[in-house]
Amino acid sequence: MPFTSDAELDLLFPSDQIPAFVRKQLPAELHIRPLASTDYRRGHLSVLSVLTVVTDPGEDAWRAQFEALRAAPRTYYGIVIVDKASDRIVAVGTVFIERKFLRGLGSVGHIEDIAVDKSQQGKKLGLRIIQALTGISENSGCYKTILNCSDSNIPFYEKCGFQKKENEMAKYA
Ligand code: ACO
Repeated sequence: MPFTSDAELDLLFPSDQIPAFVRKQLPAELHIRPLASTDYRRGHLSVLSVLTVVTDPGEDAWRAQFEALRAAPRTYYGIVIVDKASDRIVAVGTVFIERKFLRGLGSVGHIEDIAVDKSQQGKKLGLRIIQALTGISENSGCYKTILNCSDSNIPFYEKCGFQKKENEMAKYA
């Protein structure tokens, strides 16, 4: 598939919200942009499956989920890195902006679902995704950006400028 420019795509949020300094540091053969309504066809789920079990809901249901995220403006920022030669997605990540009543009606950015295709790991793409999401969170006025991760990923997030704080609790249905 030939590379599709941002102008030709139906995006989750405007491209210019991705910090320019992150764009500049990417190799020329890669492009970082917001998630697009047709990214089901560019391997979005296959990259996410590097992270955990992914059940393919089919393109229509995937698209309905995309529209549900877009219906909450300034809240869900899903981004992807695309290999221009193949127009396939090689890295993904999301930041969700939570609006609070405390801290003077402050907001918190929650980073979720970071994944880099196995063939592309170790090339700083994870770092670029985290830098972009943290930039979006801070430019949205968030007073902090947080995430949960496994012990084995702590060194990666420390390299991204995060530090360990508190504990994660979970209750699965
Ligand atoms: N242990 C130690 N150091 C690491 C690790 C690790 N597991 N992973 C990366 N690093 C280091 C790199 O060596 C690099 O260090 P350097 O600057 O000294 O060279 C730095 O962290 C940046 O690494 P990247 O090249 O940007 O890492 P990569 O592109 O491979 O992305 C990621 C890291 C996202 C963890 C990737 O390996 C991946 O997709 N893993 C499987 C899915 C996963 O675990 N996702 C994170 C879940 S947590 C969440 O989603 C909030």
